[in-house]
Amino acid sequence: MNSGSKRLGFRLAKEEDRERLFAWRNLPESIAASKDGKKVLRFHHDDWFSKLLKEQPSRKLWIAELQGGEVAVGWIRAEPVEKQYELSWLIDSQFRTQGFGSEMLTFATESLRPYPCRAWIRSTNLSSQKMAQKCGYQSLSREMDFELWQKI
Ligand SMILES: CC(C)(COP(=O)(O)OP(=O)(O)OC[C@H]1O[C@@H](n2cnc3c(N)ncnc32)[C@H](O)[C@@H]1OP(=O)(O)O)[C@@H](O)C(=O)NCCC(=O)NCCS
Repeated sequence: MNSGSKRLGFRLAKEEDRERLFAWRNLPESIAASKDGKKVLRFHHDDWFSKLLKEQPSRKLWIAELQGGEVAVGWIRAEPVEKQYELSWLIDSQFRTQGFGSEMLTFATESLRPYPCRAWIRSTNLSSQKMAQKCGYQSLSREMDFELWQKI
């Protein structure tokens, strides 16, 4: 259903996103998509987020907003690993299936050029796999329940 038009604005995370990101991280679908499959405790989130803010922009967490910036629809994170970026993402449930996930992944992949990008996606996570495929990623290998998708 993605029209291909650019409808989102992107900015790096800032202090005011701390609560929103904590709530998003502990949604059942975020826990299910994560590698360790566990809820994050408040103090772990606070430590992690404070460190992330200090280490941006080499690490990046972009907030996707509807143009104008009043409404946050999701996030995409890029962690530098072995001269590549490893990505993970979320679109808030009320904004799904409107092409925002694909638009966000396209933005991150283009912004990170010339570095290759990859993402570990659970083999049951069809929407993320479709998103990756649409943005030119390929599934290269599999470890347990996760596939490694890569864009060179
Ligand atoms: C994965 C996620 C970001 C997709 O966001 P979205 O905005 O709905 O994505 P898009 O609208 O761009 O849809 C991408 C594709 O998936 C398809 N899709 C969406 N939901 C689907 C579902 N439940 N089952 C199968 N395909 C689905 C869409 O139809 C679209 O394919 P198309 O372009 O061929 O029509 C969102 O579902 C989400 O946040 N999930 C929870 C977090 C998560 O899984 N993160 C991944 C960690 S790496």
